[in-house]
Amino acid sequence: MRRIILALPFLLFLNCKQQPALPTGLVTEKAMVVSAREEASKIGSEIMENGGNAFDAMVATELALAVAYPFAGNLGGGGFMVYRKNNGDIGGLDYREKAPLSAHRDMYLDSLGNVIPNMSTVGATAVGVPGTVAGVMEVHKKFGSLSLSDILTPVIKLAKKGVLVTEKQAKRLESYKERFIQVNGDSTKFAANFVAGDTIKYPALASTLEKILENGRDGFYKGEVAEKLATFIQEKGGFITTEDLERYEAKWRQPVVFKYKDLRVISMSPPSSGGVTINQIFKMIESYDISKYGHNSAKSVQLFTEAARRAYADRNYFLGDPDFADIPLDVILSDAYLQERMQDFSFDKATLSSDVSHGEVEIIESMETTHYSIVDDKGNAISATTTLNGGYGSKLYSAELGFFLNNEMDDFSSKAGVPNMFGLIGAEANSIAPEKRMLSSMTPTLVEKDGKLYMVVGTPGGSTIITAVAQTILNVYEYNLSMQEAVNAPRFHHQWLPDVVFFEEEGFSEELKSSLKEKGYQIFEGRSRIIGKVDAIRVLKNGKLEGGADKRGDDTAVGY
Ligand code: GLY
Repeated sequence: MRRIILALPFLLFLNCKQQPALPTGLVTEKAMVVSAREEASKIGSEIMENGGNAFDAMVATELALAVAYPFAGNLGGGGFMVYRKNNGDIGGLDYREKAPLSAHRDMYLDSLGNVIPNMSTVGATAVGVPGTVAGVMEVHKKFGSLSLSDILTPVIKLAKKGVLVTEKQAKRLESYKERFIQVNGDSTKFAANFVAGDTIKYPALASTLEKILENGRDGFYKGEVAEKLATFIQEKGGFITTEDLERYEAKWRQPVVFKYKDLRVISMSPPSSGGVTINQIFKMIESYDISKYGHNSAKSVQLFTEAARRAYADRNYFLGDPDFADIPLDVILSDAYLQERMQDFSFDKATLSSDVSHGEVEIIESMETTHYSIVDDKGNAISATTTLNGGYGSKLYSAELGFFLNNEMDDFSSKAGVPNMFGLIGAEANSIAPEKRMLSSMTPTLVEKDGKLYMVVGTPGGSTIITAVAQTILNVYEYNLSMQEAVNAPRFHHQWLPDVVFFEEEGFSEELKSSLKEKGYQIFEGRSRIIGKVDAIRVLKNGKLEGGADKRGDDTAVGY
């Protein structure tokens, strides 16, 4: 008896640790969509309530984001999706943009071999062949259960009825206005002064969506829309032809799958770097008892930073489109290799990125993308991230077709060793070639625990996507936060080069930063920015779903 009493505090501690955090986000019984806009989450959720599955909801949500969130939602961009069916089958879809047939390695260099400023970032010359419509049509063909008409009709209705401008959106539109005018002239729809509460209608986009409804994939990649799109881009000085559009195909790919303690993580494979890099980070920290160090403590920030430093160095050197570059995945994901990478790590002092570096290489992405997570009432799960690259992509807007075009060509390395608009540098594996896909950081991810679906997670944020996704998973699994708390929690980021740790503004004390500085870490002292905007779902022990809709944006969970 005495022994039991003595052991009680310990047993209680163990019990507390084993009790998952109570939910603080929206909880629903059966199905849920979490996305960047309430309108898109609602359309996706209603599709499922009307008998559709998660794949039908994916098609609807993706296209509804093109209407409600033109900042990153798109018809003129691309993305990646990872799924897990309720029977445990998994897969990944690559609907990433690709380089046009006329593209070549030095296309953004002048006669002296210097990178031509803005050519891969602004206007028609920056546009890669869009993949989004091929992606959603492929999903519908393979897994859809409702008719295209059932799925697209509410989206078309939304485009016609219009979308309310939020406070955050009004600020964004204002800050981009001059750039819209520079690229499209002052008669562009987006030259107007929008304020919160305005409604923006998208009749041209509605009629493009109607063409897609009539003719499926071909409604975009062939015929009238394709001809108008290619002509428009070429008139503006770009390279996309009707042949490029006709030849575009989304590709099914095997996801990256790995174990972390008793979790099984399923994430996107190349041409996204997300799955490989997150796999490396998790495996490099797995042997440490990170939960004991405390959430966002100096020790946990240090361990994560050192793993990220090493993983990003590899990412930037080895990764690119697997159809073009040989990627030694079996080596760089092996336990022996990853243990070796952490051999020189010590809690006493920072490793220097120059001592880790694999070559003078670094990759580049922008901050502006969007992610959504879906679970249906049968337990099928979708994690999808989609982008135009920059906010509103290249800023080139087709008034006739009603959508923005990506500037994804900037995700290639224009010239090895030369920094892009984010001060980052690119590598040979990601050099430009005709019909090649540019490297991405998008990390749509699913997590299983005890063989069951546990989490659906992903985020925008360019190169910070990978660290934001990894930290959100750790927040739930290691630090026992609810899904909503895990998404809202302050984040930090390190990506090998530049050799600095970025912290979000809130949540990291000066004391913590000083203790890291004493160990040799350089802390980014410029204006801090948000790191990711995570939208996630956690499956609770009782089978209900908890949404995590990031407070940093207008993100909303909707379900039933
Ligand atoms: N354009 C951002 C990414 O693909 O990671």
